[in-house]
Amino acid sequence: MDVAEDETRAAWAIASRKYENEYAEHLAEARTVELLPAEVAVLGRIVDGAEVVHPMSGHGLDDVALARLGARSVHGLDYSEAAVSSAQRRADELGMPCRYTQAAMPESGLDDACADLVYTGKGALIWVPDLPAFFAEVHRLLRADGWFYVYEAHPLVPLWAWDADEIRVRPDRGYFEPSHVNDSFPGNGAVERQHTLSEIVMACRRAGFEIEHLDEYPEPFWRPGHLDAAAAWDGRLPNAFSLLARRA
Ligand SMILES: C[S@@+](CC[C@H](N)C(=O)[O-])C[C@H]1O[C@@H](n2cnc3c(N)ncnc32)[C@H](O)[C@@H]1O
Repeated sequence: MDVAEDETRAAWAIASRKYENEYAEHLAEARTVELLPAEVAVLGRIVDGAEVVHPMSGHGLDDVALARLGARSVHGLDYSEAAVSSAQRRADELGMPCRYTQAAMPESGLDDACADLVYTGKGALIWVPDLPAFFAEVHRLLRADGWFYVYEAHPLVPLWAWDADEIRVRPDRGYFEPSHVNDSFPGNGAVERQHTLSEIVMACRRAGFEIEHLDEYPEPFWRPGHLDAAAAWDGRLPNAFSLLARRA
């Protein structure tokens, strides 16, 4: 494992303890949680009856939402023991068909062709140093004609400063940089990988997928708790994107 991976894994081991400490709040949220409307619009017809694998499943709230939308089962994968165990406890308490395995992508340890849908995002691709290896594993996990879906922060987001009154590009960041060190919760100290939109799309295609849908959104999927508003979120800039691809 390289130094950046070590630092990142250590940061997530600490950050994921927050999931345990906030167990009750997340449980309350999980009782009613749903996917974002933009996700439902694309996934609604696909999720029904599907066996889903979710790499980088984190606190698992998306898994509960996927089950609520009709998934037959959801298998969450995360390398944090704390994330996996608190997500499993919550899903069991709610009687949701979700199970969790501690695994470090791109080695999921799951069987070939075990999924109809691989769902990920909301802070997943930024932890992937090797996109081709990641997409190759996703491809291996999917059955013929299976789907890959990601809803993720837009690759431009690391450039946006969070000033309230004006849009500003951070002078210490670049769109074409390979990485930066996270300086906000929850992964403080972790090395975030940067992939441009074209790198993501082309890595997906080269792994053997056909792109069915690609969209960009002005709303961020995550806002740091201490900030009410930022000019970068006023509708003029991209803050998220989604991609749906079919295993060719
Ligand atoms: C932002 S969080 C989770 C995203 C999830 N959608 C959520 O909302 O909770 C990112 C998660 O990825 C996990 N992670 C990062 N790199 C990983 C890897 N290589 N393999 C498995 N899990 C990883 C971390 O432990 C963390 O729980």
